[in-house]
Amino acid sequence: MILTTNSEKETQAIAHWMAQNLAPQAIALVGTLGMGKTCFAKGFLEALGIDPDSVSSPTFAIVHEYDTEPTVLHLDLYRLEPDDLPNLALDERIDEQVEDDGGFVLVEWANKHPELLPTNTLWLSFSLTEQGRQITVDGPHSVLAQIQTWSHQQ
Ligand SMILES: Nc1ncnc2c1ncn2[C@@H]1O[C@H](COP(=O)(O)OP(=O)(O)O)[C@@H](O)[C@H]1O
Ligand SMILES: [Mg+2]
Repeated sequence: MILTTNSEKETQAIAHWMAQNLAPQAIALVGTLGMGKTCFAKGFLEALGIDPDSVSSPTFAIVHEYDTEPTVLHLDLYRLEPDDLPNLALDERIDEQVEDDGGFVLVEWANKHPELLPTNTLWLSFSLTEQGRQITVDGPHSVLAQIQTWSHQQ
């Protein structure tokens, strides 16, 4: 499924709706630099009460944790070296966040280490095409159906 977004505001509106309507799950944010992954994360966290100006890519920290309701882990795997992987146990941390804490996980550059993500992850791929900016959505059928229903109402 493809969602189009013609502005930062539209990307954030998509993120708002997802934060408020989807069951807590892992959401992978894929796309080259400047495509809107952090813009989406800002919108998502804003919907849960966080000041979007305080949200940035956790490029060096790897993980930012938000004590929202539900809680959110914001990850950026861009700089993660394969050698660091065993020490960080990120796959366990992601699973625990969703399964035990009932929270969301937003993962920028998830395509760098896709093996860390659960099988039922929602994949959002941000790109710029001749038709403008697009978010290609892939994941569990039930979640896609929910998003499709919403997008038809827009
Ligand atoms: N439709 C759009 N959705 C998201 N960002 C957009 C859009 N159109 C323009 N932009 C701009 O593109 C940039 C996206 O940056 P950012 O979200 O930090 O990218 P990334 O995290 O993918 O590197 C911002 O400067 C934003 O204002
Ligand atoms: Mg970013």
